[in-house]
Amino acid sequence: MEKDNNKLEKIVSLCKRRGFVYPSSEIYGGFSGFWHYGHYGAILKENIKFVWKQKFIFERSDVFMTDTSIISNPKVLESSGHVENFGNEIFKTMIGTGEEAITSYLRPETAQSIFIDFKNTIDTHHPTLPFGIAQIGKAFRNEISPRDFIFRDRELEQMEVEYFIRENDWEKYFEEWRENMKNFAKEVGINDIFELEVPTDDRAHYSKRTIDFLFDWPFGRGELWGLAYRTDFDLKNHGLDYFDEESGTRFIPHVIEPSLGVERTMLAVLLSAYTEDEMDGEKRVFLKLSPNIAPIKIAVFPLLKNKPELVKKAREIFSLLKKEFKSVEFDDNGNIGKRYRRQDEIGTPFCVTVDFDTIEKGEGVTVRDRDTGEQERVLESGLVAYLQNKIFGI
Ligand code: GAP
Repeated sequence: MEKDNNKLEKIVSLCKRRGFVYPSSEIYGGFSGFWHYGHYGAILKENIKFVWKQKFIFERSDVFMTDTSIISNPKVLESSGHVENFGNEIFKTMIGTGEEAITSYLRPETAQSIFIDFKNTIDTHHPTLPFGIAQIGKAFRNEISPRDFIFRDRELEQMEVEYFIRENDWEKYFEEWRENMKNFAKEVGINDIFELEVPTDDRAHYSKRTIDFLFDWPFGRGELWGLAYRTDFDLKNHGLDYFDEESGTRFIPHVIEPSLGVERTMLAVLLSAYTEDEMDGEKRVFLKLSPNIAPIKIAVFPLLKNKPELVKKAREIFSLLKKEFKSVEFDDNGNIGKRYRRQDEIGTPFCVTVDFDTIEKGEGVTVRDRDTGEQERVLESGLVAYLQNKIFGI
């Protein structure tokens, strides 16, 4: 694929300018592999995680959620083979002080703490196979060369499911999760993903089959997410098993693991959404984010800032929409064209403007569509229903 670092530079600059992503510790010169997420970036991340939770946990009834500690007893990562296989890439930290201090590690994946809670989940919920345990959380990798903006980080966030199955069923559930990952990609607006069967030599030490989902990054095609068949490797290492009440047998379940990085998802979402076109004779940049993940769903403007009657009405409409949709902004800064451009750049799908026809003729407000720039007049009484339909399809 042709490299297009120019596009990455444009995304980096938009993210900084509009408050999505800032370099960590910027006033001290930054800190390689670490990033800060500003208002819109933090909301975008939350929205991505929300969609993931819906698809991977809440729309199903066989996946439990968990939220575990980042630092565990060092035996966890020693038993899992991470310390032996990834050695330096794992951040060490001292726990305790003086002679009592011991060395432990910042987790390099969220998966291990899911495995070690396998017994707790069984004892609490008594699930029958197949079932999953899911987690969103931070992971840390001392990457030798963090690079390409938020693509390769030292502090990252993962969205992982460990799905426990009978060995014979592994192919069936591998396919099921593969489909689920593809559907998730569509739902967050990542249109072009490619699948790569990872050859034996390149697979992680625990995997018998891995598919990498790839994306065409501006710096070349590369890994977005992974789907692995981890066999019984992890539960066996931790000495955990399962008692099947129906057959009266005890065995070690096998595991299918869809593993998705939040930052790579966010970068792929931003790259997929980034669009340049021409509107009203001017070059325009906008993020064609799908409304379910756009940080701000609606912006409300009075046509002119210095007309109190317009501002009052716009404030009223803002309060109404804010109550209903929450992610709504009010803006009366600069001229209307500039306000539209600002919202275009953060991907706000709809802008509502109060003008003189709103207050003098009762003709409702204008609703501008981000992608086409077209404006439609909508009566105030039907505005909430109109926007609910446009944003959530209801
Ligand atoms: N539990 C399995 C696991 O951690 P992985 O392929 O090493 O597998 C899974 O990581 C996903 O986590 C990757 O596909 C990617 O989305 C994300 N990821 C891994 N390392 C990363 C890094 N240094 N920076 C950002 N994301 C990363």
